Amino acid sequence: MTKLNSPSPEDIRLWDNRNLMHPWHSLGTEDADFMIASDAEGIYVYDESGRRYIDGPGGMWSSQIGYGRQEMADAIAAQVLKLPFNTPWTSTSGPAAQLAAKIAAESPGDLNNVFFTTGGSTAVDTALRFSHFYNNLRGRPEKKHIIARQKGYHGSTFMSASVSGKERDKSFLDTDTDSVHFVGNVNPYIRRDGMSVAAWCDEKTTELEAKILEVGADRVAAFIAEPILASGGVIVPPEGYHRRCLEICHQHDVLYISDEVVTAFGRLGEFFASESVFGIVPDIITSAKGITSGYVPLGAVLISDRLIAELTADDRSEVLFSNGFTYSAHPVSCAAALKNIEIMEREEIFAHVRDITPHFQARLQELRCHEIVGDARGMGLLGCVEGAAPSDSSEAKRLAVDKEFGYRLDAKCEERGLLLRPLINMCVFSPPLIISRDEVDMMFDIIDQALGEVNAEMC
Ligand SMILES: Cc1ncc(COP(=O)(O)O)c(C=O)c1O
Repeated sequence: MTKLNSPSPEDIRLWDNRNLMHPWHSLGTEDADFMIASDAEGIYVYDESGRRYIDGPGGMWSSQIGYGRQEMADAIAAQVLKLPFNTPWTSTSGPAAQLAAKIAAESPGDLNNVFFTTGGSTAVDTALRFSHFYNNLRGRPEKKHIIARQKGYHGSTFMSASVSGKERDKSFLDTDTDSVHFVGNVNPYIRRDGMSVAAWCDEKTTELEAKILEVGADRVAAFIAEPILASGGVIVPPEGYHRRCLEICHQHDVLYISDEVVTAFGRLGEFFASESVFGIVPDIITSAKGITSGYVPLGAVLISDRLIAELTADDRSEVLFSNGFTYSAHPVSCAAALKNIEIMEREEIFAHVRDITPHFQARLQELRCHEIVGDARGMGLLGCVEGAAPSDSSEAKRLAVDKEFGYRLDAKCEERGLLLRPLINMCVFSPPLIISRDEVDMMFDIIDQALGEVNAEMC
């Protein structure tokens, strides 16, 4: 092993192919040709040759304030020198306590109890384990089942993967199929011809209630839902859907877990989207990603005062929630989150998102002019283009669009200096929240040109 301090691109590629296992990647591929991301600044990422790309996916739905912030580097370095680690089992630290207080102040309703984790999956895992713990303590050990949704994505620990509803992601891996139940895809795009969105909403909320009754309300602990299903293809549920789901859950004494790993921290122009955008105060919120703008790992679970009070009200000798991680409430991550939030507030980044959203969404809708675009959808600075072959296409053409649209569009955008995230027949994007109007135009001009080519090739 030589040259560890200044590896060449060839070295990096060699080590990457031989030794580094990537998430969601086929094993045994020794010739994968990943782009080597070398630098990043603002909304741009640079490869090893210095080529610049707009970071369309914004890291992975995570880059709110953009890259290369000196203030973030300073805050992280200062915390590393002051207190690089604290054991949260037996002591606390200033950044962790201050961040918990800040999040509680910005959270909806009475969600004032904050448990820090290492990322989104561990936040979801913690929330699900809390729902088990809650029912055990309340003397209802049979009330453990979870209802989740097709196309939902909640993470990659055993429990968070079990409640994820993207079938392809489960190939060759086991999940808990005994206590997890799914309701169908809520995407209004797939509703039957002639059906109104309101009728679709009725159908989907009725389906949730029917599922609770089928499993048995006395056996269902929680319903978990992303406000917008991000990795499932930026699926925006119909108006009023979340409100009605919450009502149904509460009628049946089922906890509502709102997975805001993507939607919190400004992606929809608000601190949290559950109440400000969708009008619900859930029982539990999970978050991660934008909490530190992806500079360092951190996740958070917010639990309502009501639930905590229910567990501590009775005369119990001990209410020990034995869940946690060595890096829970990590002081460096919490210091980074505090600086990230300070920057977002000082620069009024949420207001900027609200300002620029109509233009972003209008440019997204214009992409429908290409015949190959079956759907273009989004909210805030979240977008998705879904490919669909024209209705009179041959079976072979349909299959090709279904399998290749996302990868072809992504490749053509990359040639033009824009990264997207391909998901089979879709591409999704969520650029850094600091993106300017001109940069939004640059981004959509590239997608438009690339779509023109994909359309010519595939239609
Ligand atoms: C909604 C949602 N929940 C949970 C997760 C898992 O987060 P992490 O990858 O940080 O574990 C993700 C990741 O994309 C997500 O989008």
